[in-house]
Amino acid sequence: MAFLVLLLLLNVVFNATNAQSTSSIIKPGSSLSPINNSYLLSPSGQFAFGFYRYKNGYSVGIWFENIQQKTIVWTANRDASPFPTDVTLVLTTEGNLIVRPKKGQDVLIADTSSDNVSRLATSASMLDSGNFVLLNSSGGIVWKSFDFPTDTILRGQRLAVTGKLVSSVAESDHGSGKFLILMHSDGNLVQYPVGAVLERGAAYWATNTFNAESLNLDGNGHLYLLNDTGFNIKSINTNYVNASGKSVYRATIDTDGIFRLYSHSSNPFDDWYTEWSSSNYRCDPLGLFGENSYCVMMDREPVCQCPPHFDFINEQRKELGCRKNIV
Ligand SMILES: *[C@@H]1O[C@H](CO)[C@@H](O)[C@H](O)[C@H]1NC(C)=O
Ligand SMILES: *[C@@H]1O[C@H](CO)[C@@H](O)[C@H](O)[C@H]1NC(C)=O
Ligand SMILES: *[C@@H]1O[C@H](CO)[C@@H](O)[C@H](O)[C@H]1NC(C)=O
Ligand SMILES: *[C@@H]1O[C@H](CO)[C@@H](O)[C@H](O)[C@H]1NC(C)=O
Ligand SMILES: *[C@@H]1O[C@H](CO)[C@@H](O)[C@H](O)[C@H]1NC(C)=O
Repeated sequence: MAFLVLLLLLNVVFNATNAQSTSSIIKPGSSLSPINNSYLLSPSGQFAFGFYRYKNGYSVGIWFENIQQKTIVWTANRDASPFPTDVTLVLTTEGNLIVRPKKGQDVLIADTSSDNVSRLATSASMLDSGNFVLLNSSGGIVWKSFDFPTDTILRGQRLAVTGKLVSSVAESDHGSGKFLILMHSDGNLVQYPVGAVLERGAAYWATNTFNAESLNLDGNGHLYLLNDTGFNIKSINTNYVNASGKSVYRATIDTDGIFRLYSHSSNPFDDWYTEWSSSNYRCDPLGLFGENSYCVMMDREPVCQCPPHFDFINEQRKELGCRKNIV
């Protein structure tokens, strides 16, 4: 398997004229496809960009390649239906990164074609930071996945004002889930159930700041808020230990609505370690279960319960909530 990947990788690099030895790139003329399991690796091999299995097909995304436990950190068009096997991902000479099916319409992943010519992409690259970027002919970055986060930020990635992370549906489904964390324009970092009116009353967690401009994660696993002039106005994980010797970090709003900072050692077979959580009580996220229900902890898991005179809407799917019983 490793040999195959290496072969494919060499193939991609050789196919691309002017390949930079420091990064694996896509240029017009080369392509990735689920058919031959081809993907791009960052120079160190830490991150990969390409197709990953999703439902009965594939999604396009970024994952940690040298961690055994499959960890997706970004997905393109996360709410679109899965792609079939016989598609190819290409960068067109017009500067569009697209997925092209055998039959039917192209699906746009990233668009630089309508921009000024100085912003026209002529290559794409997977960087060691976990940022997948499109580059113009002189190597300037004209599009980056870091600007379109899904549920995770990585080291060096910032969530600026109005930016948000939305939880995934499930571990195996990276479509938009029930919860979001928003860098509010009023300077407060807040967690809401998706669809709740964006009022402070609907929030279940907040930093209660009023002048924050961005959420940031550094290489030491420090999560913090900066103001307009770049001052650190609040450490979010005050328990953070500088240079703790962990190899990588990620901050993710999990499917259960809790925002967590994780670290991983350099051992690919280790699990992710939770460094910090927005809450230790897993019933905190509002809207975890459906209407008329309430949440209790049982065996360290949140469980949906109905009040007296209410029954589950669906006994097999208790999380959907409760309705008044008809007697
Ligand atoms: C993978 O398959 C696609 C579609 O057939 C092809 O365009 C591409 O060159 C192949 N890549 C490699 C590395 O073999
Ligand atoms: C393209 O960008 C350059 C540099 O930013 C600018 O001088 C030029 O006016 C722009 N052209 C168009 C058509 O927008
Ligand atoms: C590429 O992008 C950089 C940064 O945006 C810009 O300074 C440069 O002029 C662009 N190069 C070309 C050839 O348009
Ligand atoms: C950012 O914080 C620093 C330190 O508290 C303060 O001096 C500065 O005025 C703040 N900047 C803005 C734009 O509020
Ligand atoms: C963390 O450690 C690095 C180097 O070990 C140092 O440069 C940096 O200033 C430290 N940061 C804090 C907040 O102590």
